[in-house]
Amino acid sequence: MTPAPRVQIEEVTQRYGPVTALAAVSLEIADGELLTLLGPSGCGKTTLLRAVAGFIRPTTGRVLIGGVDMTRVPPHRRPVNMVFQRPTLFPHLDVAGNVAFGLRVAGVTGAEQTRRVTEALSLVRLDGYGDRRAHELSGGQMQRVALARALVNRPQVLLLDEPLSALDLKIRLEMEVELRRVHRETGATFVYVTHDQREALALSDRIAVFDEGRLVQVDTPHDIYRRPASPFAARFVGDANVIAADAAGGGVTVAGVRIPVAAGHEGPAWLVLRPEVVGVQPGPAGPLVGTVADVAFRGTGFTYRIDVAGLAEAVKAEVSGGTPIEVGQTVTLSVDPASCLLLPREE
Ligand SMILES: Nc1ncnc2c1ncn2[C@@H]1O[C@H](COP(=O)(O)OP(=O)(O)O)[C@@H](O)[C@H]1O
Ligand SMILES: [Mg+2]
Repeated sequence: MTPAPRVQIEEVTQRYGPVTALAAVSLEIADGELLTLLGPSGCGKTTLLRAVAGFIRPTTGRVLIGGVDMTRVPPHRRPVNMVFQRPTLFPHLDVAGNVAFGLRVAGVTGAEQTRRVTEALSLVRLDGYGDRRAHELSGGQMQRVALARALVNRPQVLLLDEPLSALDLKIRLEMEVELRRVHRETGATFVYVTHDQREALALSDRIAVFDEGRLVQVDTPHDIYRRPASPFAARFVGDANVIAADAAGGGVTVAGVRIPVAAGHEGPAWLVLRPEVVGVQPGPAGPLVGTVADVAFRGTGFTYRIDVAGLAEAVKAEVSGGTPIEVGQTVTLSVDPASCLLLPREE
């Protein structure tokens, strides 16, 4: 018998007056998984996290944790804890006092409390910081304290709502490594919210992509990147070019130019091209030509935006190495047929 998923979200709908924040969302999260809710601002990520935490009771639908219906159970009686975007530490308590807070509420005192606080601070690599005050900590350290405080009660499920988005990029990248390690070491189920696709790809076992309250795709980072289910998912994850095209006889026609494509799709289609599969050569050297509209250096190469006559949007291309081709220059684009993905397009 396979164990029940740690979290089961069944047909959860949340309405605020005329706004449907969540539309019949169903999602199962496995024990020990790190699942990310990904989507643009306002798509319902926080609302879903709050429904799992118990801060809101959904308009319709159920939330089960460990196989038990928790829909009507108040937050403090659910085996979950939450970490927010901006850590809210108690200013009158030192770090150890902040971390011990949940233990005190649960009646864990004395030597056991001290031992658990020391263990939690060690888990987030803040050994020896117990007697510091919040104002003596950096933003990254404060978020580590918030993480220790949320984990000290050993919740089955940790909910993290954009916990790194207020931090500088360098600290954010360090904290991603730390979160992966803490997730491995605790074995807890993490539900992580972000609007940053790079962060989602880097952290997650699986990603759930949301668009305006609807769950549009759930898959591993690799599969979402390789096989986005919709133009929205393709654009939102990995910043793909999504080009209206017509497919027939083993190829597509883009801006009047025929490109052979392996996939067997016929009729109106969206051609999905990742920026890194678009080849760029200087000068008019083939059928698909354009004009460089923008070039940005990104360390290992260049990112171009190329205007192509007949296409609604500039084509994004990521090219490694070489010297930059300047804005205004004519270039030739090429794509490997094996890297083309076609999605059906409704006209
Ligand atoms: N308490 C509330 N009252 C009214 N509308 C809300 C409330 N909370 C969220 N919303 C609306 O629900 C939608 C989803 O919000 P939210 O879950 O916060 O999105 P996200 O976290 O993805 O940015 C938005 O349109 C937002 O304005
Ligand atoms: Mg939010």
